[in-house]
Amino acid sequence: MIGQKTQWIKSCPSTNDLARELAIAGEEEGTVIIAEEQTKGRGRKGRSWYSPKKSGLYASVILRPPKSEVSLIPLVAGIAVREALLDTIGVEVWLKWPNDLVWEEKKLGGILCESGFYGNRLSFVILGIGLNINHDFEDFPPELRHQVISLRMIKKENIDLQELLPKLWKAMDNWYALFLQGKEKEIIDSFLQNSSLPLGEIITVVTEKGAFTGIFKGLDLYGRLILEERVRKMSFLSSEIETIKRD
Ligand code: BTN
Repeated sequence: MIGQKTQWIKSCPSTNDLARELAIAGEEEGTVIIAEEQTKGRGRKGRSWYSPKKSGLYASVILRPPKSEVSLIPLVAGIAVREALLDTIGVEVWLKWPNDLVWEEKKLGGILCESGFYGNRLSFVILGIGLNINHDFEDFPPELRHQVISLRMIKKENIDLQELLPKLWKAMDNWYALFLQGKEKEIIDSFLQNSSLPLGEIITVVTEKGAFTGIFKGLDLYGRLILEERVRKMSFLSSEIETIKRD
């Protein structure tokens, strides 16, 4: 059960790193590590994740899926966070593929999944979740202020993490169970229903190899983004993406 065992830490460089160490030492599936602050919080693509004291949720979950195809796990996490926020706080966030949680185009949170191998066998996945909870506008660094938002800024009141967490782990558990049962289609459908990018929209996908503009045609069963350019159909892995822009 996800969240049945939770370790609360005052401060650490990154909960993903701590969870990785625990997973290597044999910690069981479902254990959650939560820190009050991170001194080296990480995002995708080597970006840093701003993690000031007591303002955010900085959590990592140890998973041990029995299959090696795990590219849907970040999608599962996004769907679960959305469900929990809607149920407990009444805030509706949207999922921006591959791993962003957005509210009115501003970033409220993100997911960072990292895998650990034993030889060439998948041994564990660390599912990192970062959410902006009780930040005020001025708490963010000036260069971020116009791109980000917190639950407190949306609701105009303090948010109690203890109310959110049980629902979050329950939703995560339900969606992770569907993932383990091979219900890829349900997961993709739910993600697309709650996607901030509507199907059929013209988007530009920026990767290390260049920018590609086309029509957003959805996600395949591996969670890859499908883009239809004028003469060809392309698919992108989440790891290839720098950003996605709407035209
Ligand atoms: C992103 O949007 O790029 C992903 C951000 C993920 C941040 C979380 S906070 C908890 C966990 N520990 C980290 O260092 N990163 C993730």
